[in-house]
Amino acid sequence: MNPQADTNNDTTTTSERPRKIKFDYEDDDQFQDETLDETVTESSNLEDDALMCDTDEIGADKTSADYYFDSYSHFGIHEEMLKDAVRTKTYQNVIYKNTFLFKDKVVLDVGAGTGILSLFCAKAGAKHVYAVECSQMADMAQEIVKANGFSNVITVLKGKIEEIELPVAQVDIIVSEWMGYFLLFENMLNTVLYARDKWLVNSGVVLPDKASLYLTAIEDAEYKEDKIEFWNNVYGFNMSCIKKQSMMEPLVDTVDQNQIVTNCQLLKTMDISKMAPGDASFTAPFKLVAERDDYIHALVAYFDVSFTKCHKLTGFSTGPRSRATHWKQTVLYLEDVLTICEGEALTGSMTVSQNKKNPRDVDIMIKYSLNGRRCLISRTQYYRMR
Ligand SMILES: C[S@@+](CC[C@H](N)C(=O)[O-])C[C@H]1O[C@@H](n2cnc3c(N)ncnc32)[C@H](O)[C@@H]1O
Repeated sequence: MNPQADTNNDTTTTSERPRKIKFDYEDDDQFQDETLDETVTESSNLEDDALMCDTDEIGADKTSADYYFDSYSHFGIHEEMLKDAVRTKTYQNVIYKNTFLFKDKVVLDVGAGTGILSLFCAKAGAKHVYAVECSQMADMAQEIVKANGFSNVITVLKGKIEEIELPVAQVDIIVSEWMGYFLLFENMLNTVLYARDKWLVNSGVVLPDKASLYLTAIEDAEYKEDKIEFWNNVYGFNMSCIKKQSMMEPLVDTVDQNQIVTNCQLLKTMDISKMAPGDASFTAPFKLVAERDDYIHALVAYFDVSFTKCHKLTGFSTGPRSRATHWKQTVLYLEDVLTICEGEALTGSMTVSQNKKNPRDVDIMIKYSLNGRRCLISRTQYYRMR
């Protein structure tokens, strides 16, 4: 989940999602005037403004980590996650349908948010649940636990996993929803691995325990024009220096499955119960074979997670052929428009690493080449998820 992104609650199917905002030009002037008037009226009460404005919160010395945790303090982001039924119902099903995992067990909920996963675990018969949450939402989680009569089973601890002291030396199960856009954005996975290494018993279970990243290629002429080429000519001015920046930022959006031109390639599977923190940085080769003659404008990454310790293998995918989730897909535009014929292969590799300055950001390097009948190309591109 990206706390800085828009909080669109729409989790309908991809075909129903508008990918573009269309503007009506006719009434633009009138609309602008109205907006200005409203702004003047709204900000005319200076006393109210002073009350609303906590100057301590606007310090220039805030780090991006502060902004990260602040955004999880607002209920809106939790509302969006809770309403993502693919996500939340999968966790609920995993926990309710596998009570054998939880009965009389001690559970650690890493990044509890509103406490929803802790409540599921308590209901499934856990002996005790420690719900650790570092944002202000921890106070709400405390109230929610009390309001639902689970105060004797769930202990909410406000603080960072890396800094808190657990009242117990070991836990039997770690449950967490840590996945960010492109799976690894936000880098909360390291927090889960930290908790695993510090508190999980030898035979303990991590839920979910597998996560895989995939890559495919799409035709996306219209949207690339709108998002990237747009900067070439803005009201007659050349703003292509911004184009370079916009190319470097992967776009989080839903992709229509009809845009997919090639196969979907598995890049990397992570075993959360065994992996080392460094394993989240990797280079993986890919070979994307065209399933029809078409153009390729972008590569698209998505992930799935699975819970392999359940009676029945359970999980969900965030791919373009699956029901939409708030993670959508991650689109990486290519500088070149590739013309590819059915059966030809776009080959290359993707390198993923934590950004050195801001470890919550992800650096991506893609090397690709196509040696086809209509197109001969070889290039390296750099991206940063921020
Ligand atoms: C993606 S949300 C999931 C919230 C909740 N578990 C759910 O499923 O709705 C992740 C939560 O983890 C918290 N978090 C992130 N890093 C943390 C850390 N190092 N220690 C404690 N909480 C953390 C965030 O504040 C956020 O509320």
